[in-house]
Amino acid sequence: MKSSIKILFDNNRKWAEGVTSENPDFFSSLSHQQNPKYLWIGCSDSRVPANQIVGLLPGEIFVHRNIANVVVHTDLNCLSVLQFAVDILKVEHVIVCGHYDCGGIKAAMDKKEHGLIDNWLRHIKDVYRIYKKEIDACPNERARLDLLCEYNIIEQVNNIRHTTILQNAWKSGQNIAVHGWVYRLSDGIIKDLKVTVEGC
Ligand code: CO
Repeated sequence: MKSSIKILFDNNRKWAEGVTSENPDFFSSLSHQQNPKYLWIGCSDSRVPANQIVGLLPGEIFVHRNIANVVVHTDLNCLSVLQFAVDILKVEHVIVCGHYDCGGIKAAMDKKEHGLIDNWLRHIKDVYRIYKKEIDACPNERARLDLLCEYNIIEQVNNIRHTTILQNAWKSGQNIAVHGWVYRLSDGIIKDLKVTVEGC
């Protein structure tokens, strides 16, 4: 147990030294301000680390993650991140990036009990209810789950675009786009679902 924590401090030291040797001013310049162009809203899944899969350094992407990348109109946590990113940081892109084989999506559909999290997963069941016809028409379970993953991302893009935050940003002429992407765990590739919105 102890060594599994110690390794993190060892890794951190090596990482900081490596970054500094490449760019001696990296941390001192970042410590003054951040200026990310992107807000990433993704799943908490440990296999989908935002910075790494799009090759960005600290300071380049603002991140919010939760189980199954859900944007709920009453979730103050997510909305606060969104507002800060849009109003203060003036990001140019909001990216909802879900992923296939999402445990949250599977759990929402497996008809078992999982405790408290079932209340969060209700939001995924709501997405299923909207697209039930399309999802039920899939030939097998895998295809059904993949399609639900995609529809969930599309619904979260819709939830974001309808927030007062985005509506007001667009009304005031702010240049900001909302994108829906899906990441495949098995090959590390992101697919654009082509549902980008750039205005009211
Ligand atoms: Co997931």
